[in-house]
Amino acid sequence: MEPTSGTALTGRDRLAEDVRRGLGRRQKQLQPRHLYDALGSQLFEAICELPEYRITRAERRLLAAHAAAIGGGLASPVTLVELGGGNGEKLVLLIEPLVRRLPDLRVALVDVSATALDLATRTLGRFPGLGVTGHQATYEDGLRRVAHGRSGDDTMMVAFLGSNIGNLDPSAARTFLGTLRSALRAGDRLVLGADLVKPEAELVLAYDDPLGVTAAFNKNLLGRLNRELGANFDLDQFAHRAVWNATASRVEMHLESLCAQTVSIPGADCRVRFAQGESIWTESSYKYETEEIAALAAAGGFTRRDQWVEPESRFAVTAFDAT
Ligand code: TRP
Repeated sequence: MEPTSGTALTGRDRLAEDVRRGLGRRQKQLQPRHLYDALGSQLFEAICELPEYRITRAERRLLAAHAAAIGGGLASPVTLVELGGGNGEKLVLLIEPLVRRLPDLRVALVDVSATALDLATRTLGRFPGLGVTGHQATYEDGLRRVAHGRSGDDTMMVAFLGSNIGNLDPSAARTFLGTLRSALRAGDRLVLGADLVKPEAELVLAYDDPLGVTAAFNKNLLGRLNRELGANFDLDQFAHRAVWNATASRVEMHLESLCAQTVSIPGADCRVRFAQGESIWTESSYKYETEEIAALAAAGGFTRRDQWVEPESRFAVTAFDAT
């Protein structure tokens, strides 16, 4: 499979534009999608193996146990679409019970990361004859492309897993689910994985592990700006911070400047000053209650079919019908 070429949104110009705009704000900010270059994607794979990061394992347990119910009742031909899915291992769990029942099942992968698309395509190679297409694109662009190319009579099941929904703030999440719904037809399905609120110590440890993998993942964003935009960030002069914001119900990831410093970013045509202690906000991971997840999707035009909760790690997988 050849990934279809990236749009301007994933190109160097977009990176430069996002950097110029984000670092010009009062609270400096960088878009989380830029975390996933080749090195960042591999570091994220490592995060998923960390004992402190339980999301991936909890979700896999739920998918393994309930995959047949999640895809239950879908009639051939089915296109399974995964948004931002990483290495494809979770898709395997969803596909296994379907592929026997639906021989003409097709899969479309949407990810900003070329590395993730490669990994997932290789993973899905274990299903001979399964049609797989990759789209290196943002969720919205990729979804639009996939929906545009669908045939008249197929059913779509969209998988949005790994608590990726939690990386959007609640109003953006509602808007996104509405956009997703409008790209679908009644009778299509959505499977959503979302992390639930749990004790603060557990949440912080999941995003600030003692081995420093998450710190490396976050700081690699500055390394990427050095490599791709010729910036001169000194990675030793920034520290990874993960903070639980209880009011907003989110873990915030920051890169905090350890001294007063000025960084130049020629590829983005700017110089950026940092006060000591000033941070760049790189990512948020919102945590929900089970009913909030259903309400979020209901606002977008989805109806809950079923919901499963992993009790130890407090993670929920919810299946919705587009109604
Ligand atoms: N969707 C993942 C989550 O919110 C992404 C993620 C995991 C992440 N660890 C991270 C993003 C660390 C930035 C930094 O759990």
